[in-house]
Amino acid sequence: PPRPGQCLRTYLRERGWFGVKKGCDAGDCGACTVHVDGEPVHSCVYPALRADGRKVTTVEGLADPVSGQLHAVQRRFLEAQGFQCGFCTAGFLMTTAALDADLSADLPRAFKGNLCRCTGYRAIEDAVRGVRHTEDAAAGCGVGRNVPAPGAPDVVTGRARYTFDIDLGTAALPGLLHMKLLRSPHAHARITAIDTRAALRVPGVHAVFTHHDAPGRHFSTAQHEHPEDDPSDTRLLDDTVRHVGQRVAAVVADSEAAAEEGCRRVVVTYEVLPAVLDAEEAMRPGAPVVHDKGEWAGIARPGANVAGEVHGQTGDVARGLAAADVVYEETFRTQRAQHASLETHGALAYFEPGEKSAGPEERLVVRTSTQVPFLVRRSLCALLDLPPESVRVVAGRVGGAFGGKQEMLVEDVVALAALRTGRPVKLEFTREEQFTGATTRHPFTVRVKVGARRDGTLTALQLYVVSDTGAYGNHAGSVLMHGCGDALALYRCPNKKADGFAAYTHTVPAGAFRGYGLGQVVFALESALDELARRLGLDPLAVRERNVVRPGDELETVVGAESDLRIGSYGLDACLEVLRAASASQGAGEPAAPDGWLVGEGSALTMIAAGGPGGHFADARMTLTADGAYELAVGTTESGSGATTAHRQLAAAELGIGEERITVRQADTDAVGHDTGVFGSAGTVVAGRAVVRAARSLAALIRERATRNGPLTDHGLLTGHGLLTGHDPLTSHGPLTGHGHATGTPRTVAFNAHWFRVAVDPDTGEIRILRSVHAADAGTVINPMQCRGQIEGGVAQALGSALSEDVRLDGRGRVRTAAFREYRLPAFADVPRTEVRCTPTADTIGPAGAKSMSESPFNPVAPALANALRDATGVRFTRLPLTRDRVWRALAGEASRRPSDGPGNSHG
Ligand code: FES
Repeated sequence: PPRPGQCLRTYLRERGWFGVKKGCDAGDCGACTVHVDGEPVHSCVYPALRADGRKVTTVEGLADPVSGQLHAVQRRFLEAQGFQCGFCTAGFLMTTAALDADLSADLPRAFKGNLCRCTGYRAIEDAVRGVRHTEDAAAGCGVGRNVPAPGAPDVVTGRARYTFDIDLGTAALPGLLHMKLLRSPHAHARITAIDTRAALRVPGVHAVFTHHDAPGRHFSTAQHEHPEDDPSDTRLLDDTVRHVGQRVAAVVADSEAAAEEGCRRVVVTYEVLPAVLDAEEAMRPGAPVVHDKGEWAGIARPGANVAGEVHGQTGDVARGLAAADVVYEETFRTQRAQHASLETHGALAYFEPGEKSAGPEERLVVRTSTQVPFLVRRSLCALLDLPPESVRVVAGRVGGAFGGKQEMLVEDVVALAALRTGRPVKLEFTREEQFTGATTRHPFTVRVKVGARRDGTLTALQLYVVSDTGAYGNHAGSVLMHGCGDALALYRCPNKKADGFAAYTHTVPAGAFRGYGLGQVVFALESALDELARRLGLDPLAVRERNVVRPGDELETVVGAESDLRIGSYGLDACLEVLRAASASQGAGEPAAPDGWLVGEGSALTMIAAGGPGGHFADARMTLTADGAYELAVGTTESGSGATTAHRQLAAAELGIGEERITVRQADTDAVGHDTGVFGSAGTVVAGRAVVRAARSLAALIRERATRNGPLTDHGLLTGHGLLTGHDPLTSHGPLTGHGHATGTPRTVAFNAHWFRVAVDPDTGEIRILRSVHAADAGTVINPMQCRGQIEGGVAQALGSALSEDVRLDGRGRVRTAAFREYRLPAFADVPRTEVRCTPTADTIGPAGAKSMSESPFNPVAPALANALRDATGVRFTRLPLTRDRVWRALAGEASRRPSDGPGNSHG
């Protein structure tokens, strides 16, 4: 029977119904939707006892129990690929399956209880309405086709296995301990005493870990190929807390309830210290110091609250500004935003017998939701003094990441607890912890100064940037460098300058986030260029067109890291054409603006390097087994970006076989050699190159053996299908394995451009998007359906940041928006359809001519929207998000200023 107070979701998951997902505990996200007597309910807020005597159906029970045939809804989600990471999918399937005809006509209402962070909802709508995107996949092989994701059947049936979708019962993991973290209530304090005795007396509590138990070593939670990219300013558990929500103690117990009770019984004495919550204040002399220890490696200016800084210039900006006919200068601000992947951070540590005869008898396994298993292993070994062969890190399917899982936020503490207790240990963040104890996007303040001649030719571009890295400097300097560098490199200009500072504050740490700083800087720069053009009386798009880089140009980031940057192919001119065509036309089904509303249009462009500077490594192995199967091993995880599908297509194209013949093993440090991970737009372009090389090397081995065994026929390996069977002479001498390795250098660039037509209600500040068009130069598109999905999802996530999402803190540094209903993630009703146009080019660097298209669609959305708003209202909005209140207040202010100021000169 259920435990008292147990929710139906936990009850079902404990019995192995892993299709029921945990995304929140508040009935907000719908990932846990099941049917009770045919009615969809959020099982996280439904008492298990209430289901007694009723019929409960989970996604595993949707298919016909006799024939095993998929439910029509499951089939439709397969055919439209109505998912990316798939963590929300079971919930959407269950809601859809219960829809009656009326409700399916009103999907915004029907889906008000289900959130998806990945897709932007269009693929879900297509699925519900029966659109089939995968139907052309049957023909041919290789790239350019809508091949379904290999994990698709598992996703729609609830069989896909995310981090905690494994048997955690006594038989599988005897002695499993559950961990809960006690977190700081103070923004800045020193722990003067910590008493764990009462906690240890709680029945079921096995151990309590505090800073006394943690290694003295400092590290960064950020995971990069080069650890020195980030300041080593973090301890596993520290005697100083620097933000509300920082870990203070970790309690492990037989149950989560006991661990929670243990946390409540830990007695901590704090000496509360002064705190600084604002980045610009933190850089002023006399501000409270966040980190004062100069000996910790990598802090740019310890004692001055500067975690990282970038400086660079080309030409002479002062001279460039003097030569300009018009100069525009303004300060722009972006807010704190959260990744909000539906699967929270979590890890499970346990032991398994060592594999190698020379290795340890037992080794530690960490199963975790990560983008970077190999880097996590390396960090764990360095932190806990472990040899690499004694640690294995493995990821299941990852339920969304968006950069947030390029950190080590849970693995260190579960590994420590497992090693100290000798027992398996599990830690899963709650949704509230995801907001208070994980990372956010860096808030940026960007002062832009741009100058141009009368004809629109740029003479000077200058950026002064302060980012708020929060209490720790993970990704601080590199986000700053990437944001400034890629933004400046898009434009030809003889005089450019950038000065950037990442400041420590006593707030929740920032980290890697889709776009990696570029979205913040581009919001400022593209807004400023738009305003500059207006003041020149020129078309903003024409001004950009006049100044953008061209094929053959050397890319100049100003802040370094450009030496291996190339324009491997150029589709920006075609992207601009798409925007022009949109502006000159009416969209199919484009709604008219309501009477009295203000209408305007705006656009923005971005360029992004595919992969980070300094090397990004990937390793792949492709095996033709003795029984004729193809196995691809690759280090990357699958978090919904579709890298796995792209890898299979690339390998299939090299070998001339159908993708369905290839099975993929991934995200396991046992599978291949070192792999930097899936981030920085590297999944397709870097790991994809390793895959192509592995497949090519296998093809060469096959050819060699075939030559020895006799000539290939016309129906042979490289020209057709089905030659290599279990009894083929090629494989009768044992398996063949090809290896591939890629270094991520040189790096190519991808281009994105977005255009909006909007209507704004001057009485309320409501913004209605009438038409949204996105043009992308993704090189050769490997999988059009998937590429479009990435773009739609990126645009939707960016719209959330542009319009509503905001991690708000109170005056004491506490997060006030630690639940989905307060944070305002876009729901189905909030996301308009975006027309996506890919402008094909053949990249000379990327695999099979492909470029990246996972994080880049995010970047131009907010400035395009702000520029459309400016066009409609005459007000330049300089601060995100563009909430209805903010827009209304600015318009009210503008109205009260007229006519003396005239329109177009005010700011919101
Ligand atoms: Fe919906 Fe990832 S596919 S949350």
